Amino acid sequence: MEVIIKDSKKSAGILGAKIIADVIKKKPGAVIGLATGSTPLGLYDELVRLHREEGLSFKEVTSFNLDEYVGLGIEHKCSFISEMHQNLFSKIDINNESINIPDGHAKNIPAMCSAYEEKIQNIGGIDIQLLGIGNDGHLGFNEPGSSLSSRTRLKTLSHETLQANARHFGSIEQVPRHVVTMGLGTIMAAKTCLLLAFGEDKAEAVYQMVEGAVSATWPGTILQHHQRAVVILDEAAAAKLKRRQYYNEVYAGKPDWQRWE
Ligand code: F6R
Repeated sequence: MEVIIKDSKKSAGILGAKIIADVIKKKPGAVIGLATGSTPLGLYDELVRLHREEGLSFKEVTSFNLDEYVGLGIEHKCSFISEMHQNLFSKIDINNESINIPDGHAKNIPAMCSAYEEKIQNIGGIDIQLLGIGNDGHLGFNEPGSSLSSRTRLKTLSHETLQANARHFGSIEQVPRHVVTMGLGTIMAAKTCLLLAFGEDKAEAVYQMVEGAVSATWPGTILQHHQRAVVILDEAAAAKLKRRQYYNEVYAGKPDWQRWE
């Protein structure tokens, strides 16, 4: 796991966007996994800037989002599909038919989940998966206790996540209890995982993910088994890491050919 600690959320977002842009430049038809929530917003702003000012094109890119609320679709401002359109898709040149998000209105949820998995596999897998992390350590909406090899399926949100997401809906009662999420096994199959985390509320989940024992109790810890996981943090999210200094030394001393920036 590569841990990069930046001095601000903004510089972390810019670096994250550069890593994704590099994947697309090397492979214009890249398959990118996307996340919602507040964490990736700065990264999306930077991708939009790279598209508008530096000609980064998403025309051949295919995207797969991590998750969606059951019962919500484009008509609801808090659905992940409308969030994605508002924050990214409407501002870049990605083709509508290349956008994939679990269907919150699916009548047959298990069939939709299997088809989602099949589509990812048929296209050759995800080249880079963007991730945030919940205060309780969830990745996607794989709450504590999720199978470490799970695939796309229905999940019930924990009280902690309902509370954290109530800010978007106005009250906890309005947050849907059920979601469809890629599983931890789906996420682990991505060739690269890129996780961003900001703020002191994430510090414990980040500590467990990077330095804790691998356990379904902290789902993010599964990334310790990933071949290529890059974690970009701000100082507050990194505050509980015991090996902070070492991560900084590693990053500062990277050979030029390995550097992101
Ligand atoms: C969103 C997702 C979640 C969020 C996590 C953090 O697609 O999969 O795992 O990344 O809940 O949310 P924020 O970024 O709002 O703190």
